[in-house]
Amino acid sequence: MIKYINEPKKEELDGKKILLRVDFDVPIIAGKITEDFRIKAQKETIDHLIGAGARVLMVGHLGHEVSDASFYPIIEELGEILGQTLTLVPHSELNEVNKLFKASPLLLLDNIRQDSREVNNDEGFARELAEGFDYYVNDAFAVMHRNHASVVAITKYLPSYAGFLIKKETENLLQALEAPAGDKILVLGGAKISTKLPVIKNFLDKAEKILIGGAIANNFFKAQGINVGASLIDSETILDIKSDKLILPEDLMISDDRTGQSGAELYPVKDIVSNQLILDIGQETAKHFAEIIREAKTVIWNGPMGLSEIDTFAEGTRLIAKAVVSVGRSIVGGGDTIAAIDKLGLLDSYKFVSTGGGAMLEFLAGNKLPGLEALGYYG
Ligand code: 3PG
Repeated sequence: MIKYINEPKKEELDGKKILLRVDFDVPIIAGKITEDFRIKAQKETIDHLIGAGARVLMVGHLGHEVSDASFYPIIEELGEILGQTLTLVPHSELNEVNKLFKASPLLLLDNIRQDSREVNNDEGFARELAEGFDYYVNDAFAVMHRNHASVVAITKYLPSYAGFLIKKETENLLQALEAPAGDKILVLGGAKISTKLPVIKNFLDKAEKILIGGAIANNFFKAQGINVGASLIDSETILDIKSDKLILPEDLMISDDRTGQSGAELYPVKDIVSNQLILDIGQETAKHFAEIIREAKTVIWNGPMGLSEIDTFAEGTRLIAKAVVSVGRSIVGGGDTIAAIDKLGLLDSYKFVSTGGGAMLEFLAGNKLPGLEALGYYG
């Protein structure tokens, strides 16, 4: 049975040493954090633990692979966002934490993926991490789909709790999954059809309609025999679904230039020439999608409608983002979607914005997430 960190009384946490799994894998450009939504979402748990007098070693990763990437360039900025003095602990000083705790109650171990044992869910590594700690807390929803040592194996060696963010994420995503299908719309965009196909399949009987935009629509066009030119496409994933619940774009914005400098041309859905790229949905599609969205009671949206980081191709995403605001239960997620709604100043306009990319999709696909399972979420 999952236990949340509000269960122990504050006095029980006082003076305790806690290993806290966080997800600070945020976009960084020229040494600056460009999106801090995910960090702020975990602040409540950090504040709760520090406020109760606990000493906390945070553990987080950077990047998708095992790498030497370090939190060092952003450690000060991280501390400012969290409103805490933060000390970075290199892996070589992991056994010095007791000494370091004397100077600061909040420490951050450097990128856990510097050690390849992390991604192998190595039990020996988990034991090393757990050494000397009283409790383990996980608030890193975005990494719950990973079978990694600091997410899964560690729970064997310490009494384990979930943080406040895990509670909010699972409650909101579960509500969205279980909301009546009749007035529920799923909107999917972005790339990586392989991560979205299982969600589409799970929602065929859980949603009224599934609106498809972004690069994943290219896979559907290709399956219909339409030439998508030089557009982004995941040719390894086989589309094995057909349903009249799936609504595809009826017009598109195309260009031969991804930078947006040569503008974009409105185009019907038909063969495009080999040097052209589909970079946004067209106006008719955006209007049609927005009408469907406005009538729904629940909308779940993951993935922009086009290359929304470039203004020339951001209009479809903007219109969808505005329509989703009007929906009673709006659940939005995915890194590129969050960047897009943040740019539009709409980050606070939805019922719930998920910090999870892959984790949100796997949850919505109905899969058991290893990190949640290790915490006892599934009973
Ligand atoms: C994310 O960005 O979705 C999380 O940080 C998990 O990252 P991962 O896909 O590299 O495990």
